[in-house]
Amino acid sequence: MSINYGLRGVVALESDISRIDGAKGILEYRGYNIHDLAQHSSFEEVVFLLLSGYLPTKSELTEFTIELAERRELPEKIIDVLCNLPTISYPTVILRTMYSYLGDLDDSIFMINPQESRRKAIDLIAKTPTIIAYYQNIREDKPLTHPNKNLGHAANFLWMLNGVEPDKIDERALDLDLILHAEHTLNASTFAARIAASTLSDMYAGVVSATGTLFGPLHGGASQKVIEMLRELKDKDTQEIEEWVENKLQAGERIMGFGHRVYKTMDPRVEELRNAAKQLDAVKSNNWLALSDELAEIVYRKKRIYSNVDFYATSIYANLGIPDDQFINMFIMGRIVGWIAHIMDQYQNNKLIRPLQKYVGEENRVFTHIDDR
Ligand code: COA
Repeated sequence: MSINYGLRGVVALESDISRIDGAKGILEYRGYNIHDLAQHSSFEEVVFLLLSGYLPTKSELTEFTIELAERRELPEKIIDVLCNLPTISYPTVILRTMYSYLGDLDDSIFMINPQESRRKAIDLIAKTPTIIAYYQNIREDKPLTHPNKNLGHAANFLWMLNGVEPDKIDERALDLDLILHAEHTLNASTFAARIAASTLSDMYAGVVSATGTLFGPLHGGASQKVIEMLRELKDKDTQEIEEWVENKLQAGERIMGFGHRVYKTMDPRVEELRNAAKQLDAVKSNNWLALSDELAEIVYRKKRIYSNVDFYATSIYANLGIPDDQFINMFIMGRIVGWIAHIMDQYQNNKLIRPLQKYVGEENRVFTHIDDR
């Protein structure tokens, strides 16, 4: 019995949602190259593509954008709970809890046919930014800034978060970030979503499982660790950064925002995120990019590993004024689309996901009654 620890290299299923060529640094959603999507589409267009399998016409996109915008409002019961939760809680734990409660409020929670799945999908994608922004409003003791139907998905989130409409550069940077995070084959959180769906459990259960899985520092949790690291290194000179990296590597520690299970060359999303981070740095007179580039060069020189999607996304979030502990939720705001596309795919072609293990414990032990131990 051979074991592939971490399921490394194991092909678990077929899917036409996205494709990675880790050796060549290629990522495609539904056959479209990520660079084309990043440079020429909007998040709404990518959501349509991932859920429907094809690029929308102008009228389909307009209709879909309106539908998403109209579903942003939260049920009163969700707002009541949000207002009564501790303001010191971790925002991703709050988001996970609200996904679960949204399911509880859905009369059709257990219906998994394509029509019902699509309704739940739009609802979950549309409401995610509202949950995140409302909780942030509440933590900051500010009145709730309600969704604005006239703004796109990314712009509306920044509006709800800050109470002012973002400029085009900020809107575009977040829109791009959401596009780049939307889908990434069988990463750990998407796999968790598919495992839940493979038991024919409800879509909310799949999203809750995925949220919990993404939260870890080896997956989506890395983005918050990256900003903590950059803040720590901000005032160090090149030699001090070199020593810092050397010490980490010598101690066998991970440097957050670097390395990837599948990419063995540059992740194509990194280039797009870096460009957006550069533009934001220039506009906001910040220096995150120079520091990030310096660190990336040192880590590559010492360990031959590349930065990953969490690395430059961090500079974007910092430049947009998003609180550090909301970075993981930014990742989720994009990735929920991929989770849901996979959950719907799993329902359509279901096979219970249930691998084997190799037992390494003792066998045939003699049971002793509790009085005799
Ligand atoms: N910092 C330092 N060394 C790293 C590293 C990192 N971030 N990522 C990988 N490595 C090293 C490992 O120590 C190992 O070195 P070795 O061969 O000398 O022992 C080698 O690279 C292979 O790493 P491995 O753990 O087998 O890769 P993996 O596929 O299991 O792990 C990650 C992939 C993403 C979990 C890993 O790169 C990581 O922990 N990165 C930091 C967290 C992060 O940024 N996560 C977000 C991913 S998008």
